[in-house]
Amino acid sequence: MFDPNGKKYLDLISGIGVSNVGHRHPKVANAIKEQVDKYLHLMVYGEVIQTPQVKLAQKLTTVLPAPLGVTYFVNSGSEAIEGAMKLAKRYTGKTEIISFYNAYHGSSQGALSINGSEEFKQAYRPLLPDIRQLNFNNTSELSLISERTAAVIIEPIQGEGGVRIPDSSYMQALRKRCTETGALLVCDEIQTGFGRTGKFWGGENFDIIPDIIVCAKGMGGGMPIGAFISSPSIMSVLSHDPVLGHITTFGGHPVSCAASLACLEVILENKLVEQVAEKEKLFLSLLNHPKIKSIRSKGLLMSVELESFEVVQKVIQNCLDAGLLTDWFLHCNNSLRIAPPLIITEEQIKEACSIIRKSLDF
Ligand SMILES: Cc1ncc(COP(=O)(O)O)c(C=O)c1O
Repeated sequence: MFDPNGKKYLDLISGIGVSNVGHRHPKVANAIKEQVDKYLHLMVYGEVIQTPQVKLAQKLTTVLPAPLGVTYFVNSGSEAIEGAMKLAKRYTGKTEIISFYNAYHGSSQGALSINGSEEFKQAYRPLLPDIRQLNFNNTSELSLISERTAAVIIEPIQGEGGVRIPDSSYMQALRKRCTETGALLVCDEIQTGFGRTGKFWGGENFDIIPDIIVCAKGMGGGMPIGAFISSPSIMSVLSHDPVLGHITTFGGHPVSCAASLACLEVILENKLVEQVAEKEKLFLSLLNHPKIKSIRSKGLLMSVELESFEVVQKVIQNCLDAGLLTDWFLHCNNSLRIAPPLIITEEQIKEACSIIRKSLDF
């Protein structure tokens, strides 16, 4: 990235989890140009079938676990969460939605209602009724999921909570409890999807298959797009009583779909997901400094715990001065965010870690 004076920055946060294939990847840029020369918006999503949407939905089936294979395209992560919440309520006929403390699912009113921090919600109440929040990774609270529950919405690894990684046994118990009670398990893969954690989907780290996957961010290769994805039997309820269960004018925009297909091909053809664990290891071996209290990481989703918010802000500024872009977390302000494009090279990792170490010397 370059500022208006031409100063160069190494991007260690990917526009918050977006630029998994880097900025302006040539294959993504070409796909955009080619689509622009064919057509832009034609019709409200779903009214006519458009080739870029079909091609992308088809390619997505190659990375989706059965029986998930039906994709509804939207414009953003928040809209995808809204769609998933509506789908779960409509399919189950129930109303309670369960989410977790320290969760982040977006900023629209429904997504905000399941945010895991009262600080972000209090100014906008009343929000959605019938929301219950549980402590993340706390098995004893799973009994609170009941026959009243339409959906449990969870980030397989909490992003804005500061990279919180649950136990596999917890995620599997959660899956089991949802199946027992008939609640739909919704994995918010908006930050963890598209290879970020070293698996294509974050949920794969725990061997669970949700009922609905929600994705956005890294999906578009830098273009705005999101999706909620489910099985044919669940998704089919959106087509009747009422018809058009979710309506979106620009959802599945042909240029965004073309970019997203190219992005997916880049990830798969270059085996980017397979390289994530090695890159994580290199980061971990080079991020050593007395001021670092701990590092939580899964693949290239990393959180470096420091003394305080003030120390984090000072390091962010020092890094910026030295040409390195890092960030903090919404629900964890004593930690430094590291989530670079998956295409980051060994040399760039070494350079970035050297800048971070120097930025900690004050
Ligand atoms: C886990 C998660 N869910 C949902 C969202 C909301 O996505 P968007 O900003 O595209 O609405 C975000 C954005 O940061 C996110 O990290």
